[in-house]
Amino acid sequence: MTDPYEPRPEHHFTFGLWTVGNRGRDPFGLEVRPVLDPGEAVHCLADLGAYGVNFHDDDLVPFGSSPAAREAILTRFRAALDATGLHVPMATTNLFSQPVFRDGAFTANDPDVRRFAVRKTFEAIDLGASLGAGVYVMWGGREGMECEAAKDVRLALDRYKEALDLCCAFVRDRGYDVRFALEPKPNEPRGDMFLPTVGHALAFIETLEWPEMVGLNPELAHETMSGLNFTHAVAQTLWHGKLFHIDLNAQRIGRYDQDFRFGSEGIRDAFNLVRLLEDAAWDGMRHFDAHAYRTEDTAGVWEFARGCMRTYLILADKARRFREDPEIRAALQDVEAARLAEPTSPAGLGADALAAVQAEVPDLTALQAKSYAHERLDQLSLEILLGVR
Ligand code: GCO
Ligand code: MN
Ligand code: MN
Repeated sequence: MTDPYEPRPEHHFTFGLWTVGNRGRDPFGLEVRPVLDPGEAVHCLADLGAYGVNFHDDDLVPFGSSPAAREAILTRFRAALDATGLHVPMATTNLFSQPVFRDGAFTANDPDVRRFAVRKTFEAIDLGASLGAGVYVMWGGREGMECEAAKDVRLALDRYKEALDLCCAFVRDRGYDVRFALEPKPNEPRGDMFLPTVGHALAFIETLEWPEMVGLNPELAHETMSGLNFTHAVAQTLWHGKLFHIDLNAQRIGRYDQDFRFGSEGIRDAFNLVRLLEDAAWDGMRHFDAHAYRTEDTAGVWEFARGCMRTYLILADKARRFREDPEIRAALQDVEAARLAEPTSPAGLGADALAAVQAEVPDLTALQAKSYAHERLDQLSLEILLGVR
């Protein structure tokens, strides 16, 4: 019998070179794993059934490489992609590791730093487009501050918008089929970061020159760090037509940025999220922005990668069971879930409609006595997750 939870390329799972290549360094301890060659990462991910691999410019071509070294690295990497059929669906730039970015990249006070950041981004867009990437992720790792008086947030947002507009202009000028996905995060590495949540980023996009070119790459860990409901953040992003990419991992509220294996914490939240993505038939990349525990060696890294994908598929299967379970369907009727699709004012917004709303006198006694049967539905959902249904 074939394993129903075996990842396959059509599931659209992707990993970053920085995720499976994470060497386990943390603020308190050194690297515990050897360097992972990008070509080897490509082969291992393909063997595991992933669809694609993503990278920051510097993950593949070390910062400061000569043009000849760069060409040699790219030739080897392209050969690994060709040999395995693995795709590069997303591109991104490292605007956070080098000391030059310690006051920010697009929002650094020094315009020379900002222009360098934009130029580095243009080069990474060229590289991504040459490998077929359709989404360019922007995570503002150093866009933020600790010293509140050092930056006027309103000016910083002017410059953030300017950088986004420049990048969109560049893509239009080159004729690339590339869209941008902003990745909000509240803190880490900066004390406070600009565009800290999905809501902030959605509002910001509307101020841009070409808002249709820019959407979001929400990350489970980042909204959870803010204590927010990630599934709701993703649902609203979908509602705005802005879910261009997603970063999946696991995170406990109130902790440092953990980037754990998908589903390893917050299993109920992970289930709700997978149910949302599957029910919406969202066709984007399921990207795992996570890494193996520091306890692991290289073999443990591949256990970690397999586990992310397997858990997603198990939860997708549970989402299907949830949809088909007759008792759950009945319970959904009891909570009147489908009625939320009925307009509040069926006649619209005209004067007649306003009058109709005003004329309706509800049976308040009946409405106040009503119970909504949420307990039963919630318990049934939990039982699906616990594997007894
Ligand atoms: C983090 C971020 C990054 C970004 C990556 C892609 O918390 O470090 O999630 O991993 O996703 O830089 O832009
Ligand atoms: Mn993150
Ligand atoms: Mn991320």
